[in-house]
Amino acid sequence: MAMASRICNSVLVTGSNRGIGLELVCQLAGSPSPPTLIFAGCRDPAGPRAQELRVLAQKHKDVITIIQLDTSSPDSISQAAKIVGSKLKDGSLNLIINNAGVNVHLELSNTGDKEMVDTYRTNVVGPMFVAKDFLPYLRMAASQAADQTSMSCRRAAVINVSTLVSSIQKCPETFAMAPMYAYRISKAALNMLTKCLAEDFKKDGILVMAIHPGWVRTDMGGQEVIDSVKGMLKVISSLTEEDSGTLLDWEGNGIPW
Ligand SMILES: NC(=O)c1ccc[n+]([C@@H]2O[C@H](COP(=O)([O-])OP(=O)(O)OC[C@H]3O[C@@H](n4cnc5c(N)ncnc54)[C@H](OP(=O)(O)O)[C@@H]3O)[C@@H](O)[C@H]2O)c1
Repeated sequence: MAMASRICNSVLVTGSNRGIGLELVCQLAGSPSPPTLIFAGCRDPAGPRAQELRVLAQKHKDVITIIQLDTSSPDSISQAAKIVGSKLKDGSLNLIINNAGVNVHLELSNTGDKEMVDTYRTNVVGPMFVAKDFLPYLRMAASQAADQTSMSCRRAAVINVSTLVSSIQKCPETFAMAPMYAYRISKAALNMLTKCLAEDFKKDGILVMAIHPGWVRTDMGGQEVIDSVKGMLKVISSLTEEDSGTLLDWEGNGIPW
């Protein structure tokens, strides 16, 4: 495990019942110095798809709290924010990883109104409302940090899980291997959300960036999820003010917008 010191005191991971989200919670909880509080967002905590997460949460029951959080529902997000707020020490939350996302893998001819709107709702509107509703906790964390001069995930940060195929500049290179519309367009919008939030939250000392996990062999995608998440957590834990408003990959390389 690459994380030598504690990544942060408190963290929320959305879409944590499987894939990259589940591995993020697993590696965070299993690190030598885990966060005190890990909120594992999941849209159906009691359902069959959350079985592995429930077992993991039971193993680390002092640290992991499963939170019902459907990121396609503004009501679910505001409800989750209230519940997380009631469990936070001093009302402060250091880190949000907006990981929940959908990809319908459809070319132009098969992409309808529903696919566009549903994908946008989960991949863009969800992360935006999560940032909006959890902002008071991030602000509190940022204002309470011992170091008021720098930005980091130990202080306060929002990480949006984006993708290489969101890059408009890289589109000529990546389009043929992934000619999907709803996903690409929604993740390009997520990048703009990242940039807007980074500008907006700068005054509060809150870092905002987007990360591409690499091609990971989950329901969506290549490589082993363990290595991707190790890399992502290494990148996230070493972010500074200079990285706010950027798109980086899981190895820390910059990707053009
Ligand atoms: N895998 C890759 O190669 C790859 C590459 C680039 C970027 N990414 C990005 O990485 C993130 C995670 O992807 P993954 O590969 O781990 O995908 P995955 O295996 O399909 O998992 C997606 C996760 O998001 C959750 N989710 C979807 N809609 C949700 C909603 N409305 N509310 C709450 N949770 C929701 C799913 O929960 P349910 O079980 O309830 O559906 C699941 O936990 C995504 O943002 C994806 O775009 C992945």
